Amino acid sequence: MSASLLRAVPSPSPASAPGLHVAIIMDGNGRWATSRGRPRTAGHLAGVEAVRRVVEGAEDLGIGTLTLFAFSSDNWRRPDMEVRALMRLFRSYLAAEADKCADNGIRIVVIGRRDRLSPGLVQAIERAEARTARADRFLLRIAVDYSARDAILRAASRLQQKGFDGDPSREAFSRLLADPPHDELPVPDVDLLIRTGGAQRLADFLLGECSYAELVFTDRMWPDFTAADLGEAVREFNRRERRFGTVPAHRGEPARAAASG
Ligand code: FPP
Repeated sequence: MSASLLRAVPSPSPASAPGLHVAIIMDGNGRWATSRGRPRTAGHLAGVEAVRRVVEGAEDLGIGTLTLFAFSSDNWRRPDMEVRALMRLFRSYLAAEADKCADNGIRIVVIGRRDRLSPGLVQAIERAEARTARADRFLLRIAVDYSARDAILRAASRLQQKGFDGDPSREAFSRLLADPPHDELPVPDVDLLIRTGGAQRLADFLLGECSYAELVFTDRMWPDFTAADLGEAVREFNRRERRFGTVPAHRGEPARAAASG
């Protein structure tokens, strides 16, 4: 794609985005399980039920896009048995939910690298994405083998391969942050990022997309997280004042020497 074409890509407008974009770092599965004397994988299994609960509850809360951090590129360093159990859970979740999601207007998109996933999981991802491709009420993005820094590197390298020779717009670059085939899908920036499990860090998740996200951290372990907790986080979000670097009651052209904030 040439530089001019890159700039011509229509920008994803937050005004036309169907609802909030909420992203969740689902942390605490392992501690939830060990505190009950159970293997960590039992926490992941219970975590799947929490995923079902929040997906069911999200639309009623005005959420249009939900991005879940299911497996980071650094999670490959976990014990083999745990990694294998997680991969099996992703595969069975996608196989079980694809039809239901399609019937309920939920589009499933999996972001992150696919070349290190098993052929069976890749097939389940492709099937779930194809089965739900026409659904347009709600976008469920699941991040598997995902690293924000790697996504930024891949986007920069794709720009370079395309013979780009000027300044890309922020919007065009945002599109490239999603790997093909999803780089044509407009996804608004994250409005609200929630992290469960008590830690307060971003852990290489959606670093560019969260530039102006409101952050909500909760001590609740992910397997205990409910639609009511999601509602509480959204209410907290609604109490925040979002300024996008400007000051209240002034949304004009950026000043030449913009202050941060
Ligand atoms: C972090 O908790 C959680 C993960 C690495 C896996 C998240 C996966 C699920 C919730 C399972 C199902 C997901 C889908 C999308 C079907 P942790 O294990 O690091 O917890 P800890 O900090 O207590 O050790």
